Amino acid sequence: MINSANRPYRSVLYIPGSKERALEKATGLACDAIIFDLEDAVAVDEKVNARETLVTALRDFDYGARARIVRVNGLDTEWGREDVLAIAAAVHAGVKIDALLIPKVSYKKDLDAVIDLTSALPLWAMMETAMGMLNAGDIASHPRLEGMVMGTNDLAKELQSRFRADRLPMQAGLGQCLLAAKAFGKVIVDGVYNAFKDDAGLKAECDQGRDMGFDGKTLIHPAQLEIANAAFAPSEAEVDLAQRQIAAFDAAQAQGLGVAVVDGKIVENLHIVTARQILAKAEAIAAMA
Ligand code: COA
Ligand code: MG
Repeated sequence: MINSANRPYRSVLYIPGSKERALEKATGLACDAIIFDLEDAVAVDEKVNARETLVTALRDFDYGARARIVRVNGLDTEWGREDVLAIAAAVHAGVKIDALLIPKVSYKKDLDAVIDLTSALPLWAMMETAMGMLNAGDIASHPRLEGMVMGTNDLAKELQSRFRADRLPMQAGLGQCLLAAKAFGKVIVDGVYNAFKDDAGLKAECDQGRDMGFDGKTLIHPAQLEIANAAFAPSEAEVDLAQRQIAAFDAAQAQGLGVAVVDGKIVENLHIVTARQILAKAEAIAAMA
């Protein structure tokens, strides 16, 4: 059974709230979560209509076990307030929505401003401003915050940094937000890979994000799902090793020992914590299928 505590976030697909075809198509796509977007993926002329198109889709389509996250416009725009109120009204009317994603969060008080309008939903924060990077710990500490999403395109724009395959210019911000999310036990998802036809580039970036500790990657096109799902899932070898570590550690403990050896490496209590997390993640992923 998938719940907010064990939910996988390997693949988090953005869908423009104005695109009916894509909204319907997503009911059958293999993503762990969807960001239904009212912000940058929606043209100014479509902003108001998108609100209704999106709420209708969320009401009428069955998105199954996928997490439903709605990205609203910022409260400093002419649409933000109405977006938040429309989503809150939909939740009160029984429409299933899991969280509100707030763009360009720079201060903890940016989240308080949303709570002042509604406390109907947990919040997620787009981490994409230089000020947000500096305040990441404070933002992550907000009791209503459930997750963070790296907004690497906006961050690159603010930093005036260039795209590099190794993402060196992004590392300070990515690392800062990772530390913040992990310190407060929040979910954190990596930024998008813009070249949606470049599978090798996407895989390299997914692998890098996975190795750093991100829970998954935000995606812009269905063709990117398979690569992210594979990269952020425990491999068969990892599951096998976790099982052997737990068995060896149990056997060691039965003999009054605190340390076991598997494949020539020591296994202590802390490794067992990781091993159990790997198995729990594999189980949750299996439950998504
Ligand atoms: N979610 C769900 N379905 C999507 C999708 C998405 N993000 N992007 C494309 N699709 C669907 C299309 O509707 C199309 O479905 P169909 O063939 O059954 O009609 C199919 O996937 C193939 O789409 P394709 O023609 O290859 O792409 P496109 O040219 O229509 O769109 C983009 C390309 C990049 C404009 C589109 O993928 C998109 O809008 N992505 C989201 C952008 C976004 O949200 N940005 C904000 C965050 S960075
Ligand atoms: Mg952005």
